[in-house]
Formats: sequence, C-alpha cells, structure tokens
Amino acid sequence: MKYLLLATLFTASPLLILKAEEPGTGEAIYRSNCGFCHGTSGEGGRGSKLNVKLTNADNVDGVKRIISKGIAGTSMPSFRFQGDELNALAEHVWSLSKGKSSDAVKLVGDAQAGEKLYGKLGCANCHRVGEKGSDYGPELTRVGAARSAEYLRASVTKPNEDIPPQWLGAKVVQKNGSVVEGHRINEDTFSVQLRGIDMKFRMFLKDEVTSVETMKKSLMPAYSKLTEKELNDLVGYMQTLKGAIAGGEAEKAKGIH
Ligand code: HEC
Ligand code: HEC
Repeated sequence: MKYLLLATLFTASPLLILKAEEPGTGEAIYRSNCGFCHGTSGEGGRGSKLNVKLTNADNVDGVKRIISKGIAGTSMPSFRFQGDELNALAEHVWSLSKGKSSDAVKLVGDAQAGEKLYGKLGCANCHRVGEKGSDYGPELTRVGAARSAEYLRASVTKPNEDIPPQWLGAKVVQKNGSVVEGHRINEDTFSVQLRGIDMKFRMFLKDEVTSVETMKKSLMPAYSKLTEKELNDLVGYMQTLKGAIAGGEAEKAKGIH
C-alpha cells in the first residue's frame, strides 16, 4: 500500500508497475498459482472463468474458503497461503468477478444441434455425461462449469495440445510386432496395464514386450473437418454440461453444509 501511495504522490508510474509484479501482491500470487488454469485475467481455460459472477462464492470469504479447501470432486485444488497472502489473493480474485453478471447463458452455438452431433460423431464411445457413455476418456458431466468455451473448442480440434498427465496414453509394442494403444492404468517395474476403448484391461509383462512408450498424441482423435457452425454447436452443447458434483460438494464448497 505504501508503494502505491508514493507512486501516486510522485506520479512515478514505474513504481506502480514494480509493485504489480512484486511477489506478495494478490495479483502476483494469482498469476503464479492460478493463471495457468484460470487465465491471467480470469478469462478461463482449463479452469473456469473467474471474470464473471462466481457460482460458488458470494463474497471474499467465500473465495478464501474455495482457495483453502479446493472444490472436492473437481480439478480445483486446495492451497495453503499465509493469512496476508490469502487475503490479498482472495481480494484480487473477488475484484475480477465483482459486479459481473453470470456467464450461464452465453452459449457459442445451438446446444440442441450440438447434442445431436455429439451423438452422431460417437463422442459417447469415450466420454460419459451423467449416466450415459463410456469412461475411456474424461467424464464430461460438468465440463461446461469447469472449462472455458475456448478450451472446449481446442479440446475437440487440437486434442494433442493439452493432455492432462493422467490421460496420457501408452503404446505397447509386443515381441510378435503387434502394437496396442490404450489408457495407462498402472505400471510397475515388471508390468504395465492398459485399458482399451472396449474398457477391458490388458496386462503386459515387460520382458514379453519390445517397448512401452508414453504417447505424445492424445487417445482422442482430432476433429479437424467440422464446419465452424458444427464446432460452435458442439461447444455450445458442452457449455450446458454443468452437472452437480457428486456428494453435494458444491454446497460444501459454498459453506452451506
Ligand atoms: C489445475 C487447475 C486449477 C488451478 C491451478 C486453480 N484452479 Fe480454481 N478451479 C479449477 C476448476 C477446474 C474449477 C471449476 C470446478 C468446477 O466447478 O467443476 C475451479 C474453480 C475455482 C473457483 C470457483 C469459481 C466459481 O465460479 O465459483 C474459484 C474462486 C477458483 N477456482 C479460484 C482459484 C484460485 C484463486 C487459484 C489459485 C490459488 C486456483 N483457482 C487455481 C481449476 C484450477
Ligand atoms: C477414442 C476416444 C475418444 C473419442 C471418440 C472422443 N474423445 Fe474426447 N477425449 C478422449 C481422451 C482420452 C481425452 C483426454 C486426453 C486429452 O485431453 O486429449 C479427451 C478429452 C476431451 C475433452 C477435454 C476434457 C476435459 O475435461 O478437459 C473434451 C471437451 C472432449 N474430449 C470432447 C470430445 C467430443 C466433443 C468428442 C466427439 C466429437 C470426443 N471428445 C471424442 C477420448 C475421446
């Protein structure tokens, strides 16, 4: 605060910039811990948008609670910050969303058409929404709450760009030359276990295979031939997927329970 005051008094704007970059300010803490998922200005990405009305917090204290506890059942982790840092960070996050309206209705496409396309393209062969579909790929029941529209779009057209480590596939080359690709479920010194798209587990003993490689490309095919409208519709449909977190965790995050 002192620096800010000085800077204003002497109109020395470089000081202001210095202050913004200094570790310890809410913004700096945000950039180094949260920007990776939520975007540097809260625009969202692999994390939800924070520059809109928040779903799980109604005030700064609510934000603090989310930061300290995370949101169980989602990929929002919990963090430990010192009191001052936590306050500064929560104030900063709250300032991004304060007074903003809800983002709930801004769909980029026609969700109904998107849902049809989702069925037609066979997305459910690998993804589950609610009770329907497969668990070969990540569950999409809540993907509209968790990710920004831009991230969803890129997930479909460029799946190789951002693969969470737990979803990296493995390629096993057997001694007879045949190649098996799948989701790596487990690996130890002697064996590796893959799950195929048929959801069956297969175990390979390492001394019976030529190689086990971590795949660089995603197990998900890139849908690069969709028209702009089809892509928007598909993303629009996924934006509506805001299913509840199991076990009332959202209410817990909000402090209702
Ligand atoms: C690994 C990615 C990741 C990181 C790092 C991360 N978050 Fe999150 N965060 C998420 C996801 C995903 C959600 C949405 C969870 C859901 O609702 O399904 C979320 C939700 C939130 C929410 C609730 C949004 C709302 O509308 O209610 C807040 C607030 C939040 N995060 C703040 C932070 C802050 C502050 C940090 C840094 C200290 C941070 N997050 C770091 C992924 C992340
Ligand atoms: C052959 C299986 C397969 C098919 C078919 C498939 N996906 Fe995926 N998808 C995956 C896997 C595996 C991942 C995780 C790895 C990654 O991010 O690339 C994934 C990731 C995603 C993600 C990111 C999820 C998140 O939480 O970040 C989205 C969104 C997605 N897929 C949507 C779709 C849509 C829409 C379709 C149909 C057009 C589709 N997928 C078809 C396997 C598949």
